[in-house]
Amino acid sequence: MITVKQKVLSILEEQKGESISGTSLANNLSVSRNAVWKAIKSLQGEGYDITAVTNKGYCLSSGNDILSEHSIKPYLNDNTMKLRIEVHKSVGSTNTLLKELAINNEAEGKIIIAEEQTEGRGRFGRSFYSPSKTGIYMSILLRPKMTAEESLFITTSAAVAVAKAIEKIAGCQAKIKWVNDIYCDGKKVCGILTEAAIDFESGGLEYAVLGIGINILKPENDFPVDLKAIATSILKKETYLPNTKSQLIAEILNNFFQYYYNSSNKEVLEEYRNRSFLLGKEIMVMSGGKEERALAKDIDDKGQMVVEFPDGTVKALNSGEVSILPVSEGNKID
Ligand code: BTN
Repeated sequence: MITVKQKVLSILEEQKGESISGTSLANNLSVSRNAVWKAIKSLQGEGYDITAVTNKGYCLSSGNDILSEHSIKPYLNDNTMKLRIEVHKSVGSTNTLLKELAINNEAEGKIIIAEEQTEGRGRFGRSFYSPSKTGIYMSILLRPKMTAEESLFITTSAAVAVAKAIEKIAGCQAKIKWVNDIYCDGKKVCGILTEAAIDFESGGLEYAVLGIGINILKPENDFPVDLKAIATSILKKETYLPNTKSQLIAEILNNFFQYYYNSSNKEVLEEYRNRSFLLGKEIMVMSGGKEERALAKDIDDKGQMVVEFPDGTVKALNSGEVSILPVSEGNKID
């Protein structure tokens, strides 16, 4: 059930920076002015910067930067307006939480966002550094009618969606490092982890949880030593504006669901190839404990990375099998 407080916040977020009288809020929501006043008090108690001016009404400051479903909704489009967004201050892992909901029959379109993850996870069982407030950690529940093989397109579509959103909102050129990382200025700013469950009877996907982690700002005490050389953030403190996180989240969702509902894989792959950080480069392929140099030649129509080894053998690599690094980076974690 949507509470009066949520409804009040929704209206204030939509008209951020403008004053709305208590009477018009009350009439709009068919509640008493006292109920509006109580909702405002409670929101102020949660840290919302709402001023009350006599004869003008209530105003949510445009500098207010508390992430909520209501701060994101004003930027969503027709495709994404109905998504069910839940924002948490801190969770273990948004992917883990959403997988639990998926197992309990949650429908497609549930989004879990957290300001901090204490057990953020990356590919190959690695951890994903997810400090409070300086990043976005988001998971999307999908129930696509596709085979496990086709599910690679969820990650490729998400990578293109995120890269385009980062470029639009933060203004930095965003490249995609096959298969799931976004790079700006030669360093990682985002990782994507798609986890899926297979329905054994149909052989198709039962559900997929698409997890996206983005470094928005440098963490308060900088990145840990092992990440410093390979990770960066999309914005600097001086250029960060309130609402940026909400805008970026909405832009990613708008882009992703546009691809998910409408676009051909061909279109997405073309954009994916154009943004590739690896194509044409010498890379290190790490698979089954072995490391081999190869040339990144192409990304095929299934989204697989086509590489050529020094002996001339050409192979299409599936994302689940390998980890890849440009040779210049050495053998650092990806
Ligand atoms: C990687 O770099 O290997 C992928 C990182 C994916 C991180 C995101 S953050 C939101 C979601 N929850 C997680 O625990 N992981 C993903």
